[in-house]
Amino acid sequence: MIMKKNIATFNLLTENLRFKPVVILLITIWISISAIAQPSHTFVVQADKPGATVQPTMWGVFFEDINLGADGGIYAELVKNRSFEFTKALMGWNILGKPQTEGDFTILNRSDHTSNPRFLRVLLHNNAKGSIGISNEGFRGMGIKKGNGYDFSLLYRLSGANKKLYIELVSESGERIGESSLELSPTGDEWKKQASHFVANATAMKARMNIWFEGDGMIDMDMISLFPQDTWKKRPGGMRADMIQLLADMKPGFIRFPGGCIVEGFDLEHRYQWKKTIGPIEERQLIINRWNNEFAHRPTPDYFQTFGLGFFEYFQLAEDIGAEPLPILNCGMACQFNSAELASLSDLDPYVQDALDLIAFANDDSVSHWGKVRASLGHPAPFHLKMMGVGNENWGPQYIERLKIFTKAIKAKYPDFKIVNSSGTDPSGERFDYLNTELRLMNADIIDEHYYRKPEWFLANARRYDHYPRNASKIFGGEYAAQSDRTVSVNNKNSWLTALSEAAFMTGLERNADVVNMASYAPLFAHEEGWQWTPDLIWVNNLQSYGTPNYYVQKLFSVNKGTRVVPITLNNDVIAGQDSLYASTVLDTKTNELIIKVVNAGSKKQTNSIQLTGVKVGTATMYVMQSKDLEALNSFASPENVSPKLSSIDVRGPTFTLDSEGYSFSVIRIKLK
Ligand code: AHR
Repeated sequence: MIMKKNIATFNLLTENLRFKPVVILLITIWISISAIAQPSHTFVVQADKPGATVQPTMWGVFFEDINLGADGGIYAELVKNRSFEFTKALMGWNILGKPQTEGDFTILNRSDHTSNPRFLRVLLHNNAKGSIGISNEGFRGMGIKKGNGYDFSLLYRLSGANKKLYIELVSESGERIGESSLELSPTGDEWKKQASHFVANATAMKARMNIWFEGDGMIDMDMISLFPQDTWKKRPGGMRADMIQLLADMKPGFIRFPGGCIVEGFDLEHRYQWKKTIGPIEERQLIINRWNNEFAHRPTPDYFQTFGLGFFEYFQLAEDIGAEPLPILNCGMACQFNSAELASLSDLDPYVQDALDLIAFANDDSVSHWGKVRASLGHPAPFHLKMMGVGNENWGPQYIERLKIFTKAIKAKYPDFKIVNSSGTDPSGERFDYLNTELRLMNADIIDEHYYRKPEWFLANARRYDHYPRNASKIFGGEYAAQSDRTVSVNNKNSWLTALSEAAFMTGLERNADVVNMASYAPLFAHEEGWQWTPDLIWVNNLQSYGTPNYYVQKLFSVNKGTRVVPITLNNDVIAGQDSLYASTVLDTKTNELIIKVVNAGSKKQTNSIQLTGVKVGTATMYVMQSKDLEALNSFASPENVSPKLSSIDVRGPTFTLDSEGYSFSVIRIKLK
């Protein structure tokens, strides 16, 4: 509009003028000056008045073994069904060659070995190399990398003559890309572990592992395993490094584990029991994963929890990435979307004891009973556990009854220990209101709120916590993700719109850091071929992983967490939706930097003025996430399509202008003098 008017005036003025060149120059300068957009709004940042403390736990991650998150995901084991304990004992395995008699391949059950009863028995009849064998397909194939080392191992038992195993990795095109062999000598009745190590000579996304037998007589096998050597921190039998690196890069304040609904289980028998997840992996009892058959539209019949990744490894991971551990324990209730089975109150003791013992396992010194157990696993020093969730997403009076029993027992022994309490499945409604009232009557430490909602909800709820009671229970935004379609729809996408709306909402969490002490997006990981639930923060295949736009939003908040909230206002009001703008500010007292976050959720570019009060400024940097396309996604082919880009901003004094493109999220860090 301004431009059009200027051009019309320019034509009129120049028509009859004799000194056209000079006039044209002057008028061009005038047009240029007047064409520079005037700031639409002025944001006032009271930089000299930092307020509430931002808890170090503010931005964290939520881990659950869903979407092949653990088995087939961060747990780097490449063999599926290594101990033959899946419902179908040979699921994931194929027999190679033609067995000579019916009973050449049998699954036997050791009734005295209750945590891992089954094993495979193979009868050989003077077999030559390449005549008979078994093959494992991995989790949607095995991701194998050229030049990387691989550790093969198994437990075996045999009598009679020596036997030989030939191990080979075969790519999807049938090429042999790695091989090794093992000579097995008689063990009598004993089970022995044997291992071999080799290097792959090519990369394959979906390789398989063949084991060929040579010799005569019987061989018993269990725990047949293949691990890459390039695991996180190069730990043998460890975690997939690329996936963990993405977490470490976020610098999360906490890690919640192991879920999610798998804590509750389909029924109580299949609940998560931490004591069964520590110690030698061959003694960790496998169970069916609750997400195996949860959704008829996304069945995953080969999804089990081996617990090779157990509570010790979770604590170790938390320590590795500098995050506070936040274990969630079953409270005597199975998933209320499934069996809704309850442990009666008189039977609750073992559940409560599990909670008390977990605190002892994590924190007691290494001469105490549980401290000794921890030390025997390789960690004599305590893990300094400070909090725990009792129940996942449970609801109703049955939850409150059980929670009270847990709370009494935990607080009696550990008065300062913090308990995370469930407010159910939704952030509003009857269920929420009931729990919220009851929890506040109990003076609950931390209330876990979940919001799986449309982007519009996130935009409209940026003020949600502005009026929450300040000196009462703290809030944990324990699970949230904007749903582009609807909750549990397979059509949900990790679009820029969803990420942008989350960023807008998160400015409201940050502004209210005196009330909101923790928040985490959920779920965290998804395998492109093995997922049950979408959207998810990080997507992987067998070789690669990438962060969604939502990941980068989480990361920007987390790595720019600051330590104190600083008021930022527009016309004396918080900035939470006016002209599609959302903003929050924190001060990092450790680095003496002011960090301003601005979301422009509207389509038009805006130029706004920012006024800092009472401070002198030094250098400034700005990262911007932006896309004109609200449907834009990241992908394996374009993993950083929507991601933070370094941008320029001119901050020479306490008042400066910020250009915000339409649909953008900007984070400005200003050094203070
Ligand atoms: O994040 C997926 C699921 O959503 C979690 O397991 C559960 O807590 C919630 O219903």
